[in-house]
Amino acid sequence: MVGTLAKTHESASTSYSNAASLDARMAIFEAMQAYRATPEEKERSLGLFLRGSLLARLLAVADIYRQIVDLPGMVFDVGTWRGQTAVLCENLRAIYEPLHLNRRIACFDTFSGYAGFSERDKATALHADGTYALEGPDYAQFLRDLLVMHEKSNALGHNNGKHRVIAGDCRETIPQFFTDNPGEFIALAFFDVNSYKPTLEAFDLIYDRLVPGGIIAFWQLTRDVIPAEGRVYAENILGKVSHRIRRAETYPGLCYIIKSVSAQT
Ligand SMILES: C[S@@+](CC[C@H](N)C(=O)[O-])C[C@H]1O[C@@H](n2cnc3c(N)ncnc32)[C@H](O)[C@@H]1O
Repeated sequence: MVGTLAKTHESASTSYSNAASLDARMAIFEAMQAYRATPEEKERSLGLFLRGSLLARLLAVADIYRQIVDLPGMVFDVGTWRGQTAVLCENLRAIYEPLHLNRRIACFDTFSGYAGFSERDKATALHADGTYALEGPDYAQFLRDLLVMHEKSNALGHNNGKHRVIAGDCRETIPQFFTDNPGEFIALAFFDVNSYKPTLEAFDLIYDRLVPGGIIAFWQLTRDVIPAEGRVYAENILGKVSHRIRRAETYPGLCYIIKSVSAQT
């Protein structure tokens, strides 16, 4: 893969970084592409090019994941996009709970972009029905295969094929998942679909299946440019659903609620 980073992508255009910092990000990326080393050395040295702000995001997911290690239940990644959080969770599973082979991860996405924007949302050029589109079912299959590769490379890798990648609108695929898998329940769910109705419908379905002490993490809860999660929280969760709320230490945008142990759903 050779190329430069487009500054129009959301990760640069709505970044808190200034121009010099974005230029440095670009320089690191270009250095990665030009890097001269053997394939073995390159494969072993990917951290050379992992910028700090991305590392902060990965550490934040790890900090949350560690809080569910002693809970049973699945991990859901709702709005998985390219699946980075799901892949990270498989690797965290293997590191923190290598014997927990029943920690199944399910990734949900249309893989054809946002779906479900309505009059309650503030659509923009970056966030509207159809943006963030990938190659649909082909990408879903790529992510399935990639997750199996990671499982195989991890401890006890002969137990692979645990995870699911489910393509479609989460308002349909999540209820269908529970119809098909009536015994499944959830320890941790990441949310990132960013329109009001899908976020609310997915929250209601997932919260019903969330174990006491389980976690729902919102990537955009406090971002005013993407207001859906904040609005769902303020209107439907705060003061109505018994929980504690935290923000990730290393990545303040990632906020999460912990279901009260005594909560009645
Ligand atoms: C910002 S991206 C997610 C980024 C990802 N969570 C990450 O950490 O890299 C939002 C994703 O939500 C998906 N999405 C939006 N609305 C959806 C819906 N109603 N059902 C399923 N997926 C949806 C989009 O296709 C897109 O891939």
